[in-house]
Amino acid sequence: MTGRICGTGFCVPHRVMDNEELARMVETSDEWIRERTGIAKRRIITEETTVSMAAEAAKQALADAGIAAEQVELIMTATISSNVILPCAACEVQKEIGALSAACFDINAACCGFLTAYQTAQAYIEAGIYQTILIIGSESLSKLTDWKDRGTCILFGDGAGAAVLKAGEGEGFRSILHSDGGRGEALTCSGKHWKSGEDDTGFMKMDGREVFQFAVKRVPEVIREVLELNHCSLEEIDYFVVHQANRRIIESVARRLGTDVQKFPMNLQDYGNTSSASIPILLAELRRNGTLKKGDRILMAGFGAGLSWGAGIADWGI
Ligand code: COA
Repeated sequence: MTGRICGTGFCVPHRVMDNEELARMVETSDEWIRERTGIAKRRIITEETTVSMAAEAAKQALADAGIAAEQVELIMTATISSNVILPCAACEVQKEIGALSAACFDINAACCGFLTAYQTAQAYIEAGIYQTILIIGSESLSKLTDWKDRGTCILFGDGAGAAVLKAGEGEGFRSILHSDGGRGEALTCSGKHWKSGEDDTGFMKMDGREVFQFAVKRVPEVIREVLELNHCSLEEIDYFVVHQANRRIIESVARRLGTDVQKFPMNLQDYGNTSSASIPILLAELRRNGTLKKGDRILMAGFGAGLSWGAGIADWGI
């Protein structure tokens, strides 16, 4: 048994914040941000929440899959910015969409959250425990952003993406996840609720250069590793769906692999880095705009706080 993606959905806030607006808040410019990151704008919550966006993305994914909410057996929401600490976001989504038979929990793996949920869902399905699983990445990173720090506030955005996995015959692919807690200081967020010191704002703090160097080294490595593990070649991959943090990181990954960057779709120019939501938002967009065709083989790769990184492969079945 293996889990196949049979529906996707996404939801982003209505409010658009472009680089010009940011340039009025901190010392930066549209040109600098585009050149260093590729980002032109991002969406920021106003009345939306992590749960409301997650629920909307989930409803779309279920409709796309033709599956009723009552059939869902497990909901995993990957998030670092849930509305409240308790109950978990997955339980709140369950209430919103009426998936009354589902077990629910959240995953905190930052930008690797969706990949972690995908790997976990595959393990449950292979073990025969659940057959129908809803996985979501949803973030309101604007709540955790220091809008006075030009090194981080230009990067992030809010949004949610979801996918439905259903058990199917045959053998699937194995995903790979790695973490190096020893380098965790490179990207941290103590959270307002756990304010630990006088100068601790509770916002995200990042050593941008270190994270950049980590990503351009580790992502190509783990892509090769997951390909080898699954006896698959680079040429067999139709699309590389990489965490949407920075255009230069993605271009560097493509270069290091010797692969055409055209195989690396991007939407970071519109949404910025939405952490655990970036991969499922991109999947849902590619599904919606007809880029992904049944039978396409995709490779998903993520990296971020932890530091953590990983990759997984899927044959597109819808
Ligand atoms: N606007 C204008 N100048 C800025 C700026 C901004 N928003 N942010 C930093 N700078 C300045 C710095 O102060 C520095 O000035 P100095 O040379 O006078 O000291 C200069 O630009 C270069 O800074 P540096 O940090 O070396 O820039 P960079 O090329 O590494 O780009 C990032 C910074 C954050 C865009 C880049 O490091 C990055 O994208 N890293 C990865 C971050 C990431 O993806 N994190 C999430 C992972 S999930």
